Amino acid sequence: MSPLTAVVDALRRARTITVLTGAGVSAASGIPTFRGADGLWKKVRAETLATPEAFEHDPKLVWEWYDWRRQMIRDAEPNAAHHVLARWTRERPGTTLITQNVDGLHERAGAEQLIRLHGSIWHVRCWKACATGCTDWLDNRAPLPQLPPRCPHCGGLVRPGVVWFGESLDRGVIARALDATRCDVFLTVGTSAIVYPAAGLVHQAKRHGAFTVEINLEETSASSGVDVALRGKAEEILQEIDRAAGTGH
Ligand code: OAD
Repeated sequence: MSPLTAVVDALRRARTITVLTGAGVSAASGIPTFRGADGLWKKVRAETLATPEAFEHDPKLVWEWYDWRRQMIRDAEPNAAHHVLARWTRERPGTTLITQNVDGLHERAGAEQLIRLHGSIWHVRCWKACATGCTDWLDNRAPLPQLPPRCPHCGGLVRPGVVWFGESLDRGVIARALDATRCDVFLTVGTSAIVYPAAGLVHQAKRHGAFTVEINLEETSASSGVDVALRGKAEEILQEIDRAAGTGH
């Protein structure tokens, strides 16, 4: 049996499927990944833009970077990978999608049951957690009229609603993601499997007895631990699997 056939077979038999996605899933939409030759972290150091310290030091610089990314994402469209996964969440009960991406492209493709591990670039919250507390709100203006944007309640700074390096993930969100590792098939797609706790989910799924699959252009630190590693573009492989599993239209 070919590796792809093994995956299709496992998916056909599965009652519950969990998919973890990373930046590679949005690459075909023209959104740069973080690592690799053209990755965002090759051009700028993460510590100067994606940490609470960086924001404290230079909120305008941090916001200029996020505002640039928001404009790029605004002009992008979901690709075949987003569409296949979104349809699985709608049409296959028992499918959970977990993403590290903050771009909102899964949502724009119509995904349901989505767990956003690292927040959303389209949400913001008060830096000082004033009257709004820690609650995020949607502000999808791109470009933003004022940088850095100001909190409508206290006039203080507003920060992007994403998780930065050195910050903890929301406890409720990580609990839901861990719950979803109790599944029949777990796919890790387009992620370098470097950033924890996201990178640990596939191992957790394996411990729970899931059939584990990686889809990635290249080998990652998750590759040796999965049952099947499929090399190639997520947007192509997912369509191939979808057609073969008979879920495509
Ligand atoms: P990375 O940039 O670390 O990894 C992207 C992965 O996608 C790489 O392993 C590529 O080989 C793969 N890839 C690229 N194009 C692909 C394609 N068309 N099909 C399949 N695979 C492809 O991105 P993430 O793993 O998502 O965190 O990074 C994890 C986290 O690190 C991000 O959420 C972000 C970042 O710093 C925060 O901002 C907290």
